[in-house]
Amino acid sequence: MLLPLLEFRSVCYTYPGTEYPAVRDINLAIAAGQKTVILGHNGCGKSTLLFLADGLYRCDSGAIYWQGEPLKYQARMLNLWRQRIGLAFQDPEQQLVAATVAEDISYGLCNLPLSEAEIARRLHQTLLDFSLQELADRPLHHLSLGQKRRVALAGVMALQPELLLLDEPTAYLDRRQTRHLFEELDRIQASGTTIVIATHDLDLAYAWADWAIVLHEGRLMHSSPAPDLFGCADLLEELQLGLPTLLECWYALPPAYRDRRSPPRTLSELRSYCL
Ligand SMILES: Nc1ncnc2c1ncn2[C@@H]1O[C@H](COP(=O)(O)OP(=O)(O)OP(=O)(O)O)[C@@H](O)[C@H]1O
Ligand SMILES: [Mg+2]
Repeated sequence: MLLPLLEFRSVCYTYPGTEYPAVRDINLAIAAGQKTVILGHNGCGKSTLLFLADGLYRCDSGAIYWQGEPLKYQARMLNLWRQRIGLAFQDPEQQLVAATVAEDISYGLCNLPLSEAEIARRLHQTLLDFSLQELADRPLHHLSLGQKRRVALAGVMALQPELLLLDEPTAYLDRRQTRHLFEELDRIQASGTTIVIATHDLDLAYAWADWAIVLHEGRLMHSSPAPDLFGCADLLEELQLGLPTLLECWYALPPAYRDRRSPPRTLSELRSYCL
């Protein structure tokens, strides 16, 4: 059997000075090539889980493994770990470190063993991919929140990690930029990067994910292929997640209409049923 890319075994974490663990006894595996979504209400532990996965926080107990190798919190291993795993923070302001857009994207690249020519090539390509050419020399503090979010995502994706963790990646993005982001994600997924998205956007999760993980109050409540979760309205209800909009519309249709059809994953699939 193939080893998971990333694995949590009995991981617990409590923030200093707090009473209850933010993440408790988490066991989960992220398979290579799978599009994984982490769902759950505000405060359920999604961001904490991603910080732990990236080695920014240290587990109180349990351990995290990369292809069977446990994470040890020494500088050399952490450096290597963060070359493999890229994390785009929920709050882009926490992520951006340099003075301008181009400098910020270059900053991460300069920490990798790359030639100057390769750094320049990746910077140029990233600015193009994220439509940031015109903002390249802008000071970061002059950008809107949506623009900062794009720069933060671009900076992480330029590093071409093997595993990309995105925390609420569509927050602050308008519809056009969201569509653009998912085109980019499809492209990098096809080139071999595994992607994990933490979100409470059920519509996004339903349209995108192959695998769904649900957290509640720091505990793992569910982990399964996404269709097993979204195909079961009772389970979604039990987990208090509600239904994606498309499924809400689907279940509002007369049963005879839905008979022998699987729920549509996209609007165009629903349209094709009506032809
Ligand atoms: N720096 C911190 N210090 C103390 N407690 C924290 C800190 N950050 C988060 N917490 C607590 O840890 C728990 C998990 O928070 P976390 O940010 O991981 O949730 P989340 O699922 O990402 O929420 P959201 O959907 O709002 O982003 C919450 O109870 C939160 O209050
Ligand atoms: Mg969060």
